[in-house]
Amino acid sequence: MSVSEIFESLDYGAAPECVDEAQAWLEARGRRFGHFIDGCFTAPGEGFESRNPANGQVLAELSQASAADVDAAVRAARRAQGKWAGLGGHGRARYLYALARLLQKYSRLFAVLEVLDNGKPIREARDIDVPLAQRHFYYHAGMAQLMESELPDAEALGVCGQIIPWNFPLLMLAWKIAPALAMGNCVVLKPAEYTSLTALLFAEICREAGLPKGVVNIVTGDGAVGEMIVQSDVDRIAFTGSTEVGRKIRAATAGSGKALSLELGGKSPYIVFDDADLDSAVEGLVDAIWFNQGQVCCAGSRLLVHEPVAERFYAKLRARMDRLRIGDPMDKSIDVGALVDPMQLTRVSEMVAANAAGERYVADTELPQGGCFYPPTLITGLNPADALMQEEIFGPVLVSTTFRTPAEAVQLANNSRYGLAATIWSENINLALDVAPQLAAGIVWVNGTNLMDAAAGFGGVRESGFGREGGWEGLAGYTRLRGSRKRLKEIVPFSGDGSPETSIDRTAKLYIGGKQARPDSGYSAPVWGKSGALLGQVSLANRKDLRNAVEAAQAAKSWSRSTGHLRAQILYYIAENLAARSDEFARRLDALQGGKAGAKEVEVGVRRLFTYAAWADKYDGQVHGVPIRGVALAMKEPVGVIGALCPAEAPLLGLISCMAPAIAMGNRVILAASEPFPLAASDFIQVLETSDVPAGVINILTGRQEELAEPMARHMDIDAVWCFGAEALSCVVERGAASNIKRSWVNNGFARDWLGAEGEGREFLQAATEVKNIWVPYGE
Ligand code: NAI
Repeated sequence: MSVSEIFESLDYGAAPECVDEAQAWLEARGRRFGHFIDGCFTAPGEGFESRNPANGQVLAELSQASAADVDAAVRAARRAQGKWAGLGGHGRARYLYALARLLQKYSRLFAVLEVLDNGKPIREARDIDVPLAQRHFYYHAGMAQLMESELPDAEALGVCGQIIPWNFPLLMLAWKIAPALAMGNCVVLKPAEYTSLTALLFAEICREAGLPKGVVNIVTGDGAVGEMIVQSDVDRIAFTGSTEVGRKIRAATAGSGKALSLELGGKSPYIVFDDADLDSAVEGLVDAIWFNQGQVCCAGSRLLVHEPVAERFYAKLRARMDRLRIGDPMDKSIDVGALVDPMQLTRVSEMVAANAAGERYVADTELPQGGCFYPPTLITGLNPADALMQEEIFGPVLVSTTFRTPAEAVQLANNSRYGLAATIWSENINLALDVAPQLAAGIVWVNGTNLMDAAAGFGGVRESGFGREGGWEGLAGYTRLRGSRKRLKEIVPFSGDGSPETSIDRTAKLYIGGKQARPDSGYSAPVWGKSGALLGQVSLANRKDLRNAVEAAQAAKSWSRSTGHLRAQILYYIAENLAARSDEFARRLDALQGGKAGAKEVEVGVRRLFTYAAWADKYDGQVHGVPIRGVALAMKEPVGVIGALCPAEAPLLGLISCMAPAIAMGNRVILAASEPFPLAASDFIQVLETSDVPAGVINILTGRQEELAEPMARHMDIDAVWCFGAEALSCVVERGAASNIKRSWVNNGFARDWLGAEGEGREFLQAATEVKNIWVPYGE
């Protein structure tokens, strides 16, 4: 090309990154790798090839871990864990800091190796993946340092199994390993089969940092190895990947007592209002959907454009697409690299080819030959129900439709089974901040997109998974509260043959939508006291009653928008009305349970209502300082509708302990009362009826928890299920929750001291809220 031609086209010249060091690193290891177990690399075994997706060249041979390898890794982690936790926060902080420094020292090698293995543009690996991975270790060195002072009641979970995908191999590794280690856990991590090389380089820097052996173990292999880790003797599974595999893992770990976090797919809306700076919004889209070839779980892949500007916006967008440079990922002036593997190229191509709806625009750009390249594509004019508007494509393909009003934009945005992220583009701050809270998403970006930082929790709602990574909230998943951990004792209801004290029918009803309701089954069961006296009859709720309760709870949405002040007032009022009848409730509890603990239970119940009335307007979010021109507002939002299987023991206090934190945070609840002692809940209905609780906010069902647990866990309009009932129910709930990946919180057969500190507090408030991080521009 002559100088005058370059002057005319203003085209970039090639700026290739040097790959020699990375190739030499591979060569020096014979291009064959074993696993990293107990501080050593195992001899390479049978396995598979890792290829460069930009040109198909084989980079290395990796080993497929056997059951024995996984077992050895888990045992090494288990052996190392006590000592690692025992190092204390400062001791661990020094190691995390050393790892951060080494990531920095080898940053170029990490970036180049990542690009060879994954196909992403070197600019991204160099400027985003690697620096963010370093930042994660620095940030969590700080968390380790602060653990003892800031989280005095928390302890490590133990051994964590971590399974990561191929789209951000090193960054996902950092997201998983840094917080786990900071909190005193040891890990067994499996990188994705397509992209394991930077994880193996990371294993080497663990050695260089002098990390005690067994603290970090890395095994390579495909999904079968992932399954083995899921089944192994670990205390937690942290997974990032497809919703389909996440669902399997939820079902596979049900009832095992393993903690779980799932960071899954998305179909995140990107909303452009007519008052947006359209050129910025187009540039934002380049980062939203062409960043990492669209292989980003939070990619802005569903473009919603305000009708008045749609044509103008699409025209600008098409022009920009034509200027995207697609080619050798190792070229520093490339915008779009290669997809990770031929399987992903096939998957994306087939999904797009199967779509006949809308109009397709393909960037006018030449595709390099021989690699997994797919052209930037825009499909406009789709209907909300079209497959491509609903399914994650995970490639450089943007789908779009238009909207007329902000309300319609919100409706379209939320019309998805996913809820990971959302982007709002508008110059009107009132509009942006009005729309942000209405979006079903764990992350919202205003006039920016795909922003991530260690200080801001990352994760979604709905079928995008549960749990957060990063920030304070990310630590919860790697710790547990210190506690007694006594097993739950089974409570057998009393039996008897006595006759009722009065001849009047005393069948207690259910409480649904603010009204006392007879059960759909028409059945009731007698409730006997310890002495064998008949204390009353209790209604037996079935799945139909549950459905009615869900409908009532869904209709009470305005509770979630009410102020903390109002919710506090109602909780105080419930407490006042309960206190006024405390003698009567104490007698009832004594008659039901035998003994004389009733008065204490009522007293603690009143106190607990006060506690959550106090929290209702004080459990605030945070403002995270993030290293960009902006802040992330970590807002605590209600989860939605929570179903709770209340404890059998402490029949009144247990019910209050589930109900009060949930409604204090703005949720609506469906409470399945204590099965052996249900009449305490039935009496409590009268207290609620006199306490100004809006209809549908609290619903109470009595009957067999076993019958209610599964439909509760499977119900699509229940957002979370808590289970403090019999041990076997934990498994039923977790397995059922896999259906729509809802959040669950179960006791795994461990008892809780409901009268004491374990019966209330931040653990409950956390379970009753979702953190939504809203990134807004702020400052210069
Ligand atoms: P995947 O979910 O199968 O793989 C992710 C990780 O899970 C890998 O390490 C894999 O080896 C492991 N794995 C696979 N099956 C497993 C099992 N049964 N038990 C335990 N671990 C298992 O994702 P895949 O097939 O690579 O990509 C398929 C689609 O998933 C993509 O097209 C995309 O839509 C989505 N995806 C989403 C990601 C995200 O970040 N949300 C990341 C990767 C894929």
